[in-house]
Amino acid sequence: MLTLLFVIAAGVVCTFAGDRYHPEQYMEPRTEPVGRLLRSSETTTQFWVEDAQAALRQRHTDGLRHRSGHARNVVMFLGDGMSVPTLTAARVLLGQRQGQTGEEANLAFDKFPTTGLVKTYCVNRQVADSACSATAYLCGVKGNAGTIGVNGAVPRHDCAASTDAARRVQSIAEWALADGRDAGIVTTTRITHASPAGVYGKTANRNWETDADVVNAGHDTERCPDLAHQMIHKHPGNKFKVIFGGGRRAFLPNTTRDEEGTRGRRTDDRNLIEEWQADKAARNVSYKYIWNRAELAELASSPPEYLLGLFEGTHMRYHMEADPSTEPTLAELTEVAIRSLSRNERGFFLFVEGGRIDHAHHDNFARLALDETIEMSKAVARAAELLDEEDSLIVVTADHAHVMAFNGYSPRGQDILGTNKDRDRNGVPYMTLSYTNGPGRRVQDANDMRVDVTQEDNFGALRWRSHVDFPLSSETHGGDDVAVFARGPHHAIFTGLYEQSHIPHRMAYAACIGPGLHACSAAHSLRGSLLAALMLLPTLVAALRSFF
Ligand SMILES: *[C@@H]1O[C@H](CO)[C@@H](O)[C@H](O)[C@H]1NC(C)=O
Ligand SMILES: *[C@@H]1O[C@H](CO)[C@@H](O)[C@H](O)[C@H]1NC(C)=O
Ligand SMILES: [Zn+2]
Repeated sequence: MLTLLFVIAAGVVCTFAGDRYHPEQYMEPRTEPVGRLLRSSETTTQFWVEDAQAALRQRHTDGLRHRSGHARNVVMFLGDGMSVPTLTAARVLLGQRQGQTGEEANLAFDKFPTTGLVKTYCVNRQVADSACSATAYLCGVKGNAGTIGVNGAVPRHDCAASTDAARRVQSIAEWALADGRDAGIVTTTRITHASPAGVYGKTANRNWETDADVVNAGHDTERCPDLAHQMIHKHPGNKFKVIFGGGRRAFLPNTTRDEEGTRGRRTDDRNLIEEWQADKAARNVSYKYIWNRAELAELASSPPEYLLGLFEGTHMRYHMEADPSTEPTLAELTEVAIRSLSRNERGFFLFVEGGRIDHAHHDNFARLALDETIEMSKAVARAAELLDEEDSLIVVTADHAHVMAFNGYSPRGQDILGTNKDRDRNGVPYMTLSYTNGPGRRVQDANDMRVDVTQEDNFGALRWRSHVDFPLSSETHGGDDVAVFARGPHHAIFTGLYEQSHIPHRMAYAACIGPGLHACSAAHSLRGSLLAALMLLPTLVAALRSFF
């Protein structure tokens, strides 16, 4: 027996080539990808050189193009939990759906001229939640986890502290409104959820979505109104021209049900959807409340001035599970929002969130997380078609990362949602995409053998969970930096690695709104011309010298 073991061990040692860290048996793809052909030209030098030179020519032309203007319109896309591995894997899935190997494909924003990275930590947390990060990327100030629209001097749950004007901060939507521009929000989550709430809300607790939540926490709704109430009745939510998302239940009394049977959650007996309509009627403006896809399509060509669209009782459904007869896609919502807001000559600020990437990751549903990312990419593509690069800034980013990893040494074109070509040390298959933690943990046997997940009945189903390292009821966010992509006026200021809270300052700079430095302020242009003149001075002197 011992001898046999020895022989096996020796055999293993003999077959390992390469170094200890990169055993050749893992590094060498043993089979060609099946069904997806490599572009044959990829094996030539010319292919890669031409590819690089074409990209370089594009950069060169972009760099020469004069960008003197400012961003009349700003559209910010936020992929909730859209970590860098999520972007890479979604891009591969997109390419594979089109019959390619996948790795070479591009999401809509992959080719934006500028990318950057941001640090997502919050004042009291190494790893951000969607509330404190929303305050950072929308209001330009970092705060504490769980708080929205208030600075780090407001502890979570502290209603009293959040009422102090000096601790409340403004969002870029408020800066846009103050400049006479319009503002709107689009999300696939409840409209009262943390990310969209960052555009209009001020609260010591992101979970105070209805009056019942505030009351149950022992607070007075007069002092600390819930997020649904704030959106309908307070500045700036009551001035938004477009509000699209899910979450009807936060606007309806608990004695009523919405159009699709979801019971309301309010205990103050108020119907805020009716109150929104009454408010607009009182202001003598055109408005419409809609709740399904057909109604959206009907008004798409000539929308009223104010639009409130709530398409689900709670979050909108995952795109792959949605009922297309009632639920619009994120791209459709984005298009109607842009068409509607574009009527303001001065411009607009629009926030668009792909909010359920995060939820799918929390459940270890990798397929759904990637599909939601692709849906957001489609929405970005639609916006990029509708808006002129010369006067509209598009910024795409995420609030925080997740702990999904892209593992192994699979050959080109390997199914991104499948198993790796190789197996673990015990010969058990593992997934290319797996998680550090979450509900997808399987019980291992006494010998620490992993379960072969490919044998599970629902393997590959939409809601099949990838395997994880340690069990948690909900997978956690990740603390790694997230990417920023920018296109349009002054896109280059988004390059580099900086604080997440710098993002709205930079958008405001490009749009010439809000406090602080503006791209088009007189002082700035004067400084710019002086600087340019100084830089030209030696050339002028040289020219004069040669003349005389
Ligand atoms: C609605 O809320 C009130 C106040 O909390 C409560 O007494 C009542 O039972 C609720 N009704 C339903 C149907 O949940
Ligand atoms: C309301 O608006 C309409 C059309 O814009 C206008 O004709 C009407 O006089 C307005 N009514 C009030 C009360 O301001
Ligand atoms: Zn989350």
